[in-house]
Amino acid sequence: MESRLSSLKVEDLRTTNAAMTRCISLAKLAAKSDVPIVLLGETGTGKTLLAQAIHNSSARAQGPFISFNASAMSDTLLESQLFGHEKGAFTGAQQAIKGKFELANEGTIFLDEISDMSPLAQVKILRVLEYGEFERLGSERMLKTDARIICATNVSLRDRVRQGKFREDLYHRLNGLTILIPALRDRREELPGLIANELKVSALRLGKKITAIHPAAMDCLLVHDWRGNLRELSHTVRTMTLFCDGDVIMPEHVHFPPDLEPLQTSANSSEKNASHAHPDYDGGDLLLASAVKRHVRFVYKQANQNQRRAAKLLGISRATLSRHLRELNHK
Ligand SMILES: Nc1ncnc2c1ncn2[C@@H]1O[C@H](COP(=O)(O)OP(=O)(O)OP(=O)(O)O)[C@@H](O)[C@H]1O
Ligand SMILES: [Mg+2]
Repeated sequence: MESRLSSLKVEDLRTTNAAMTRCISLAKLAAKSDVPIVLLGETGTGKTLLAQAIHNSSARAQGPFISFNASAMSDTLLESQLFGHEKGAFTGAQQAIKGKFELANEGTIFLDEISDMSPLAQVKILRVLEYGEFERLGSERMLKTDARIICATNVSLRDRVRQGKFREDLYHRLNGLTILIPALRDRREELPGLIANELKVSALRLGKKITAIHPAAMDCLLVHDWRGNLRELSHTVRTMTLFCDGDVIMPEHVHFPPDLEPLQTSANSSEKNASHAHPDYDGGDLLLASAVKRHVRFVYKQANQNQRRAAKLLGISRATLSRHLRELNHK
């Protein structure tokens, strides 16, 4: 997965969703400049992928793309990781190594999970940004780096600043432009296309010939809340491909990763199970519009035609539900 997409450019990204369109336009702008970027999005929304795509589309594309996860780093390792060290700088330093900032020279340094950086890491990074200089541990020689900075965070950095957990001066240095990547559940209209793509890739990889997704299986995928976003989508599609021994994906092939499984109320789990056998799903076509209609009709019936409850179960407003029901002549 990672290698398939690591050469992606921002120009290759496609979407039909308004928030994602904005995200891609900003990414294109970001690629044309050198301003520091903050990518804000839930886990699995594609922050790492977008950072790499911005780099690939930028004037630095021929230079290195160096990732650094600041949250996983102990303070003792931090400095040598960021700035490198000379041979003998500390016990166990058997040879000189370059740090991430030095390695990223003429390229991009990607600071992942920036909101969880320790106070020490924040000070050290601020210093490089302010002076553009640093030294390896065990050396007094000042080194300069010309690295473009892209950061990723899954929580608002401004909130972290307000909570006193993130330095305000660093926040302003890093935040040339914030790009918000929408959660997958906020761009559900793209699910069928994304699922189809993933299915093509995983079927090819696993040597399976899969021709369709049964509407009831598609329905499970369309109503899921995808808290793990694209990462969860790609795992789920891979698993269902693996479990499918025929040429059509059936509902029983769809398993969501257990640690991401939403807490199910008895109501929605019985609805999920009932949907497999529900006559509304038999013999239907594979169009998304038809799946949506079938699903709205199904949930509305399950909710005993109670609009408030049906809207809640569907995760949509009463007004949207009314519109769907009008289309179904189900007033
Ligand atoms: N537009 C896309 N199309 C298909 N797959 C994608 C897309 N964006 C991301 N993915 C895939 O989703 C998975 C998660 O992406 P990525 O690692 O970039 O997310 P992330 O936001 O950095 O996650 P985390 O917060 O956990 O670091 C990866 O396997 C990636 O290849
Ligand atoms: Mg990431």
